[in-house]
Amino acid sequence: MENVTITEKSRKAKKEYRTFNIDEIRNEFPILKRTVNGKQLVYLDNAATTQKPQSVIDATAYYYTFENANIHRGLHFLSEVATESYEQARLKVKEFINAMSVSEIIFVRGATEAINLIANTMCRAKMFSEGDEILISHMEHHANIVPWQMMCERNGAKLRVIPIDDHGDIIMEEFKKLLSNKTKLVSVVHTSNSLGTINPVKEIIKIAHEKGVPVLIDGAQAIQHKPVDVQELNCDFYVFSGHKMYGPTGIGVLYGKTSLLEKLPPYQGGGDMIRKVTFEETTFDDLPNKFEAGTPNIAGGIGLGTAIDYLRSFDFKDLMNHEDALLQYATQQLQLIPGLRIIGTAKKKSSVVSFIIEDIHPYDIGTIIDTDGIAIRTGHHCTQPIMQRFNLPATARASFSFYNTFEEVDKLVVGLHKVITMFK
Ligand SMILES: Cc1ncc(COP(=O)(O)O)c(C=O)c1O
Repeated sequence: MENVTITEKSRKAKKEYRTFNIDEIRNEFPILKRTVNGKQLVYLDNAATTQKPQSVIDATAYYYTFENANIHRGLHFLSEVATESYEQARLKVKEFINAMSVSEIIFVRGATEAINLIANTMCRAKMFSEGDEILISHMEHHANIVPWQMMCERNGAKLRVIPIDDHGDIIMEEFKKLLSNKTKLVSVVHTSNSLGTINPVKEIIKIAHEKGVPVLIDGAQAIQHKPVDVQELNCDFYVFSGHKMYGPTGIGVLYGKTSLLEKLPPYQGGGDMIRKVTFEETTFDDLPNKFEAGTPNIAGGIGLGTAIDYLRSFDFKDLMNHEDALLQYATQQLQLIPGLRIIGTAKKKSSVVSFIIEDIHPYDIGTIIDTDGIAIRTGHHCTQPIMQRFNLPATARASFSFYNTFEEVDKLVVGLHKVITMFK
């Protein structure tokens, strides 16, 4: 009997994953088949947004074709079907990040809106006052800088910045020194979009918690590259965007611990977030509805759920191994190019190579290789302070997904040689 139970348990525990087959995978992303400027598209701008597999495209089309209705409101058939599909998506997110409950999953427009929600509601709950401090790092995206600056303006709190070293790693000793009894929140990026640094967020959270300080993690560039377990991390808030993880634009997630979300007031007022409204007073609904005023992005939520299904059909280790191999190969190959300097050489990196080439402006690099159908990002990547830290106006950035190939890295290298030859 005991043996039977054990066998059943291990059979259940061993999920059957798809084998990692790059040709099959690429076939599932229709846009990868298109040409740009007469050349086969080489899409290396995945940190800006990822492409969508056919299943995600189909799921949103299916919703509009067969299920379109407003949710949570009607008792009619279609409304119930749409509500069920949307709430299923919330459940998929909960399982994907191992939250304790679906009430901890708030659908928002993206990482930016999630951070604005927390900044605004903490401010309204008077959790910060004159002289209090919020700690962020030097490598934050503007989405994790500007909302806090706006909040500080309103309540006299101060934004303090954890410095980074020349490789692009957070200086942990400085972080510890900056943490004080004035610190009311630490808000740091999990993986940097401009340097590729993977921050030691678990350690950061542990250190902050020892001082009783809650931590928000901006996971916009981590969630698509590695398994994230919010309970294991023990973060208080975790935010990300659907469109960077193979889902649609206009949908994202704010995860928050129930105890904290319950302390915060609603972000916006309107339909769907109330229990009772009179002209004298309004009472608010429970989580997660309290934070989801108005008609949400229903198709987006369903599409995000499908993107999660897609990611979960693989063993994440296979995706990570391929992406790591691409990053290593690209780093090696780019370093061989005369005059090229990689910006961001942290100990642990993920899927991003930022670089400059001596005497050539990054915009010129991007524009020239675009004529060969190669899409990379050039500019400050919404991280102007990090550009200032490295004394640069901009970088060129190639960012990878598991659907990219070594041949595409080779095409990038050929393209960069062409740029250098043109500028000689
Ligand atoms: C690290 C990081 N945080 C936040 C954001 C903002 O994401 P969104 O524009 O989807 O809200 C981005 C987008 O590039 C990002 O890379």
